[in-house]
Amino acid sequence: MTVLNQNLDYDKPVKLAEGVYWVGFNDTQSRLHSNPYLIHDGDEAVLIDGGSRPDFSTVMRKVLQTGIRPGQISHLIYQHYDPDLCGSIPNLEQIIGRSDLKLISKQENNPFIRHYSVRSEMVCIDRIGRQLTLQSGRVLRFFSTPYAHSAGSFITYDESSGILFSSDLFGGISEVSNWELFLELHQKCGPCTQPQPQEPDDLCDDIQAPCTWTGLHLFHQQIMPCNKALHHALSIVQAIRPTMIAPQHGSIFYRREDIDYTIQRLMAMNDIGIDGLV
Ligand SMILES: [Fe+2]
Ligand SMILES: [Fe+2]
Repeated sequence: MTVLNQNLDYDKPVKLAEGVYWVGFNDTQSRLHSNPYLIHDGDEAVLIDGGSRPDFSTVMRKVLQTGIRPGQISHLIYQHYDPDLCGSIPNLEQIIGRSDLKLISKQENNPFIRHYSVRSEMVCIDRIGRQLTLQSGRVLRFFSTPYAHSAGSFITYDESSGILFSSDLFGGISEVSNWELFLELHQKCGPCTQPQPQEPDDLCDDIQAPCTWTGLHLFHQQIMPCNKALHHALSIVQAIRPTMIAPQHGSIFYRREDIDYTIQRLMAMNDIGIDGLV
């Protein structure tokens, strides 16, 4: 177990930075964890990729445990339109109970998101200059990552904390019941250029443990449409140079060298989506 993961209680929200919390669900039965995040700033709060309908009660309990009232949530950000992040929109709208609640996404996503029975105003990131400024002046900046994996996919950078909320990008599948919130690469794994083992439970001969790259590779291979879409999105992340990457699945990257090695490894993958099939 890595240092940051020691004494973490996954039944509670986990603070990532000032006002930033993981409010996700540690599903010990599944290889795929969903990670919604809450930003709490002054009287305002923003929920990013709020989660599925089955996860709603867990996510909401954690939101409340951060000390905020649901009515403080002013914006819901949805970085694309999949059910694992959008499924609980009606539940959230009901408990937040604000007529001025804004749902931030991108025009390409909104025709699909509205099918979750959305009542709130839907705002496209392009209409607000690709940034959201909170009442305190805190700026959340949005970067379009087309086809990684949806046409309207985007990622969100919190300038105050340096955290990049990367949606499905940097997501990973973990071994069942061996998931940790914070990822720390084994020192041999960063520079490794060997092909990764096929399955998340397979052990790597070098480190006698499962290989981090396996879950990352499988996830990106299955979820991203092609090499070009993934590599383009990674080049955007490279330019942002976040201090932490908080994806919607898998684990959080918080060490500079791990972020750099992971970008390198993902950039080298050339069998993503249709490119791995044809
Ligand atoms: Fe997705
Ligand atoms: Fe997802």
